[in-house]
Amino acid sequence: MKIVHTISDLRQSVLDMKKQGAKVGFVPTMGALHAGHGSLIETAVKECDTVVVSIFVNPTQFGPGEDLDTYPRTLEVDAAFCDKLGADLIFAPSADEMYPSEQLTWVEVEKLTDGLCGANRPGHFRGVTTVCTKLFNIVGADIAFFGQKDAQQAAVIRRMVCDLNLPLKIRICPIVREADGLAMSSRNRYLSAEERKRALCLHKALMACREQVMAGQRDANALIDAMKAIIEQDQGEIDYVSIVDIETLEPLNRIEEKALIALAVHIGPTRLIDNIYFDRLE
Ligand code: PAJ
Repeated sequence: MKIVHTISDLRQSVLDMKKQGAKVGFVPTMGALHAGHGSLIETAVKECDTVVVSIFVNPTQFGPGEDLDTYPRTLEVDAAFCDKLGADLIFAPSADEMYPSEQLTWVEVEKLTDGLCGANRPGHFRGVTTVCTKLFNIVGADIAFFGQKDAQQAAVIRRMVCDLNLPLKIRICPIVREADGLAMSSRNRYLSAEERKRALCLHKALMACREQVMAGQRDANALIDAMKAIIEQDQGEIDYVSIVDIETLEPLNRIEEKALIALAVHIGPTRLIDNIYFDRLE
């Protein structure tokens, strides 16, 4: 496995692979890798001949007062992890390599970015869609792999690729959880032992919602209130608890068929997100 830090080295390496006819898979990450990222890499390794993983803590998707400076940077450990899973190439650029001068050109997806995480993180998705477009153009992959863990990000990226006719496929992979249900996240390492216990309230609330839907409850407000009560019991500070259409991300009054149940909660200073979705109700 090779690690490259510059755009020209990355392009040259991918070109060499493509000359041999390789189907190139791409897993964009911000590092501090865990089994959630691992599942994307494993899927990419299964579906493609060559796998590129980017590790870049993208400054343009962090707002003022967010955790850009403290975000864990663990390149050596991450590289060993990627190597073990069978990735071929790591792209780990510096911020100057990705943003050598003031960025005057931005990629923005409208509407889908207004609600959920977009409401309290202005500019976040603009940073994500811009860096992903840059990375897609740099890597030139056939398929890029994203996680359902960031459900809004997945919907936004899918829409961007469709709207801009970007020449790659997007694959969304399921959420990987700890044994007790907590969704894996690079930010889980911020949690103290006591916060780690309380962080389970996100998954507990989602499971309770699933149970109530299965028992016939379809009213979104009733489901949301029940989830909020569970989270508040564990002193989770709610950013949002929402039931939205899977594609448009517009709020739903009732769960009829497809629905995304998404939440963002602060446990102490750490902001965590999680979600489940219903594809079809029996
Ligand atoms: P990051 O938070 O590092 O996540 C990289 C990818 O891993 C995302 O597609 C995310 O959804 C996926 N992922 C994270 N935790 C997961 C879990 N528990 N199960 C399954 N997949 C999981 O998302 C970003 O980085 C950035 O916004 C990025 C797309 C790299 C742009 O900077």
